[in-house]
Amino acid sequence: MSSNSLEGKNVVVIGGTAGIGLATAKAAADLGAKVWAAGRSQSHIDRAIEVSGGSFEVRQADTHDAEALDAIFREAGTVDHLVSAAVGGERTLKPFLQQTQEQFQAAYDKLWGYCNVVRVGAPYLEDDGSITLVSGSPARKIKPGQSPLSCVGASVENLVRCLAVEMAPIRVNVVSPGTIATAMFDHFGEEKDEKLSGMTATHLIKRAGTSEEVAQGLIFVMQNKYVTGTTVDVDGGRILS
Ligand SMILES: NC(=O)c1ccc[n+]([C@@H]2O[C@H](COP(=O)([O-])OP(=O)(O)OC[C@H]3O[C@@H](n4cnc5c(N)ncnc54)[C@H](OP(=O)(O)O)[C@@H]3O)[C@@H](O)[C@H]2O)c1
Repeated sequence: MSSNSLEGKNVVVIGGTAGIGLATAKAAADLGAKVWAAGRSQSHIDRAIEVSGGSFEVRQADTHDAEALDAIFREAGTVDHLVSAAVGGERTLKPFLQQTQEQFQAAYDKLWGYCNVVRVGAPYLEDDGSITLVSGSPARKIKPGQSPLSCVGASVENLVRCLAVEMAPIRVNVVSPGTIATAMFDHFGEEKDEKLSGMTATHLIKRAGTSEEVAQGLIFVMQNKYVTGTTVDVDGGRILS
């Protein structure tokens, strides 16, 4: 068995029925892990079952629903690697002063969902296991109109550092994607490719990333037993552009 194998490991990916989470579930299953991927909508669940080809389990759960999360962890029994890649909140992309307090607060549902996943999942984690959360480049690359992404992403990154200190030897890390071509941009419709090209034109790597490229970052922090409390940027150099 290669040292990179996840053979015999239990991996739970909340927000694992589309995009980055789905690519992570598939990559972990391809490396031999027993994987549970979860999301809310039946349409994403159906698509994930199709993508899995039976190589991983797909379940329904919302990051805000502790009971549904616990049912997945109970089914797994013990968890070696816990991932939350759910979007989990409504973001209003307008300048801060043009948002209502309610709109700004709604973006934090992502953080509260991640907190819930960690609280409910922690009792099931193996001592040599890991937790990986997903932030996003706006956490450290500030642009006008993105304060909800920046503030929530930065909170996720700091939560990870706190958890890494408090939960050691369990390893806790965060992966920060740049602009990635996922369902998140489906609202652009037929203009999706053109819009993504425009959004990434000034990045060091001038294209949107793929879910599979970000999944490689998530798999890296699961596999490497000496990595904890860190942020892995998979962003085509967006932070520096
Ligand atoms: N794509 C990007 O450019 C980008 C950039 C920076 C950061 N990110 C971050 O990367 C993560 C993954 O994004 P993505 O682009 O892969 O999104 P995506 O393609 O929309 O997939 C999101 C996944 O999370 C699930 N989900 C959303 N809300 C959930 C909730 N409350 N509870 C459980 N599952 C939930 C979705 O299924 P359901 O909707 O059916 O529940 C889906 O499976 C997110 O945290 C996002 O903020 C993405």
